[in-house]
Amino acid sequence: MEIRSVKTVWFSPTGTTNAVVAAIARGIDAGTPDIIDITRPAGRKLSLQTSAHDLLIVGVPVYLGRIPALAGDWLRTLVAQDTPAVCVVVYGNRAYDDALLELHDILAERGCRPVAGAACIGQHSFSTPGAVTAEGRPDARDCAQAEAFGKNVGEKLRAVTSPVQAPAVSFPGSRPYRMATCHPYREGTPFWNVDFIAVGDSCIQCGRCAEGCPVGAIDPEDSRAIDTKRCITCCACIRYCPVQAKTIMPGIVQDASLRVFTLNKEHREPEWFL
Ligand SMILES: Cc1cc2nc3c(=O)[nH]c(=O)nc-3n(C[C@H](O)[C@H](O)[C@H](O)COP(=O)(O)O)c2cc1C
Repeated sequence: MEIRSVKTVWFSPTGTTNAVVAAIARGIDAGTPDIIDITRPAGRKLSLQTSAHDLLIVGVPVYLGRIPALAGDWLRTLVAQDTPAVCVVVYGNRAYDDALLELHDILAERGCRPVAGAACIGQHSFSTPGAVTAEGRPDARDCAQAEAFGKNVGEKLRAVTSPVQAPAVSFPGSRPYRMATCHPYREGTPFWNVDFIAVGDSCIQCGRCAEGCPVGAIDPEDSRAIDTKRCITCCACIRYCPVQAKTIMPGIVQDASLRVFTLNKEHREPEWFL
């Protein structure tokens, strides 16, 4: 089949998922891809329809072994007609559990034909200075592998006359999907039910955190004012603060992030499914 356009969709609060998706798209080599960035509220206001001549690459981070709920909500509005799709999850070196399967199922239900997938490693959003999990990932090696994978996806599709003929892929995971728990919190209590972000005195009220927040949880007039009920603990505000005024809350929350660091030091390789 001829790939007339590549559409990349990502939710990427701290910028690792988009790097992987962009590298895969480069490898496919079918012109400049359309970028549908659903990280921030404005991006999620747009809707998307795709056809059998498009190739869709969808990337989301793994949150507690699942895909982020608001990314899932947006993806369930997608209207696709036999669109070949590449499912991509990026995780912080712990595990991706059922997230890739969940992404596959949503895209298939919306009319896509999942033909390939990837589970890649990204620097953990909860990294703190001195305790950085999967530092610098995806690195140059990961991105080179992602490009090579993209090339193989392109070859797989160009070898058939329609996406319906492209062999489907299967992914690890189980249904019903499980949500990982996060010791030391009570079983089943997600991070986002606690006060997660601390704001230090060095805050210069530049408003970049409010601009970058995927859920509008920070007051644009007061960078210190965080709506903890809306906060999804994605750490975009920490990542984009120019003066490091935002950190993970000391105490139980920081202990949890240190635990992530301690338990997940082993180097993991990306997995490619074709
Ligand atoms: C709320 C939350 C939960 C997370 N849960 C997991 C997890 O279950 N397994 C894992 O390996 N990484 C987990 N991570 C780490 C992210 O998946 C990882 O850092 C990813 O690269 C972030 O993507 P982004 O840079 O596109 O935002 C979690 C991060 C957050 C913010």
